[in-house]
Amino acid sequence: MDERYRLIESLDAEYVLQTFNRLPVAFVRGEGTCLWDTAGREYLDLVSGLGVTVLGHCHPAVTEAVCGQAARLVHTTNLYYVEPQARLARLLVKNSFPGRCFFANSGAEANEGALKLARKYHYLKGRPRGKVVCLEGAFHGRTLATLSATGQPAKREPFKPVMPGFEHVPLEDPGALRDAVDDETAAVMLELIQGESGVRPVSAEVVEAAREACDRTGALLIIDEVQTGLGRTGKLFAFQHYGVIPDVMTLAKGIANGVPTAAFIVATQYADALSPGDHGSTFGGGFLACSAALATVQTVIDDGLPEKAGTLGGMLLERLRSMTEGVGLVKGVRGRGLMLAVQLERDVSWQAVKGCLERGVLVNNVTPDAVRLLPPLIVEEEELVRGAQVLVDVLEGLDE
Ligand SMILES: Cc1ncc(COP(=O)(O)O)c(C=O)c1O
Repeated sequence: MDERYRLIESLDAEYVLQTFNRLPVAFVRGEGTCLWDTAGREYLDLVSGLGVTVLGHCHPAVTEAVCGQAARLVHTTNLYYVEPQARLARLLVKNSFPGRCFFANSGAEANEGALKLARKYHYLKGRPRGKVVCLEGAFHGRTLATLSATGQPAKREPFKPVMPGFEHVPLEDPGALRDAVDDETAAVMLELIQGESGVRPVSAEVVEAAREACDRTGALLIIDEVQTGLGRTGKLFAFQHYGVIPDVMTLAKGIANGVPTAAFIVATQYADALSPGDHGSTFGGGFLACSAALATVQTVIDDGLPEKAGTLGGMLLERLRSMTEGVGLVKGVRGRGLMLAVQLERDVSWQAVKGCLERGVLVNNVTPDAVRLLPPLIVEEEELVRGAQVLVDVLEGLDE
């Protein structure tokens, strides 16, 4: 290990709260699909900062937008109008569904805002509702409300009591979802592909049941597109694969190519539920973040990246399936677009990720027994094939 890496590692060990299981590498430069570490070694990045750098590292359009904006104006607060915020809101609404946007700084914060909006809507109707129905396995964030919405009991356990009112139904049971939603339900919140629980697609039947149950009871349908949003699944937003339109959609990760930004879009009929004083954010919707997001979203659309993600992802899924056919350790490959996971028979995803790292390819151990691929949407077919070959070689090496 080089001197610079050793210094970073020792500073982290001494001064940083140890909340992450870090891999033994520190990156200092990036371009497109490539990252370089402290020793100058090059890596193929098939993780893109957990689905964030959709345009690859340091995309010129984003760099130009950020640098130009940083030189003009960085912060004034939401006490005043913010031009890139207004323009970004129009771009997002025109490409999703008629409504309005609120801007935040992280996925959890966008989800918090969406939950507050649902409560306020029912409060204004004269019948406050406290219940929120979510799916088992879901991940919606780590703040107290979003942790309560997260359907992974082990993550909630040490922080109890979590917020009351959150109910979780099985991932693949439209009937249970329909039964759980009643006149006390403020909202149903779901991802369309559960990212953090291992890339688990939610069936069309469950999504349709959620829409029907919300229409029947007046609950709001909140779709969390923090991970699936912005082209990753083959459409700009994953809900566009279904004949279902959300009442609220939350976004973060990919929308500003790495500059911390999040948003929720609320359908016009619910948009008056929050009024001045109900919700806010000092940094949310700032000049830098919104300029970066405008450049990112526009480039994703102009370059046809959602379609590209759909085509390349389909190819990669098939290829990984055929390449791993004879590998006993591999149980299956699943996902949609450039959001894929290789399911393993044993808890060795950490070893697999380390093995790939040693061979210059970044993949992610999303669960102990699954390896996730979230490549940037600008990736080339040849790079995916090369990365897949490295992953399969490593998995073969771990096969007993
Ligand atoms: C679906 C989903 N929702 C919410 C979040 C939380 O986002 P953040 O880490 O930006 O708070 C994540 C993060 O992985 C996510 O995948």
